[in-house]
Amino acid sequence: MRSDVWLQTYELCRHFRRGPHVVRAVDGVDLSVRRGEFLGIVGASGSGKSTLLGMMAGLDTPTSGRIEVDGGILNSLSSRELAAYRAARVGMVFQSFNLISHRTALKNVELALYFDSTPRQDRCRMAEEILERLGLADRLDHLPSDLSGGELQRVAIARALVKKPEILFADEPTGNLDHENTRQIAELLTDLNRKGLTVVMVTHDLALANKYAHRSVQMDYGRLADHASTGEDSR
Ligand SMILES: Nc1ncnc2c1ncn2[C@@H]1O[C@H](COP(=O)(O)OP(=O)(O)OP(=O)(O)O)[C@@H](O)[C@H]1O
Ligand SMILES: [Mg+2]
Repeated sequence: MRSDVWLQTYELCRHFRRGPHVVRAVDGVDLSVRRGEFLGIVGASGSGKSTLLGMMAGLDTPTSGRIEVDGGILNSLSSRELAAYRAARVGMVFQSFNLISHRTALKNVELALYFDSTPRQDRCRMAEEILERLGLADRLDHLPSDLSGGELQRVAIARALVKKPEILFADEPTGNLDHENTRQIAELLTDLNRKGLTVVMVTHDLALANKYAHRSVQMDYGRLADHASTGEDSR
């Protein structure tokens, strides 16, 4: 049903010109993201996963095609409106955490609130609250260099969540983690999803997607492969 869909792409393309060649990174993708689901996007390196995710998160604009969010057309927004979409509605996490190395865990999260209208006295409290919720109460004043990989990713997730986004886009969130931390981060995403957050996770790890996502789609040379699998019904 239409109202179940949070985001829908239509014939979405992102082509890059490289000298005389055109790289069709994303090439005609029709994909829906349903409200409240945990969607996996899997595929080989170079298949276009990050490019697709970046467009849905409003970090990049399509060459052609359309992205609708709640019925509004994302790619007709001005760059200012797109920035507002990213700031208010979307959280992002990456494989490499992307934390500021000379700032504490608390400050890294707090900085996410710096450019919106959150009053100064609320920023610290909100950052503390979310870090505590993610099990990092005793790591608030640690620098990134003094945190484990799993803790770094939890700080990055806290930073993405502190603004209470509707959706979390995670690009290989466990790509730099060992087996145990991968499990913990995947379970954290599952828990957040159960509490209402829509989650889209890109991973090259089919087993991980099959275990944790409700549904997975596969990218193949910029296109969606025909089959989709669910956590219970993997191929
Ligand atoms: N800014 C760019 N300029 C030119 N080509 C690009 C650019 N970004 C991506 N590409 C190309 O588009 C294709 C898809 O890249 P993308 O990063 O989306 O793949 P991916 O599935 O995320 O791969 P990985 O699993 O290695 O992260 C690749 O061939 C890549 O080289
Ligand atoms: Mg990628």
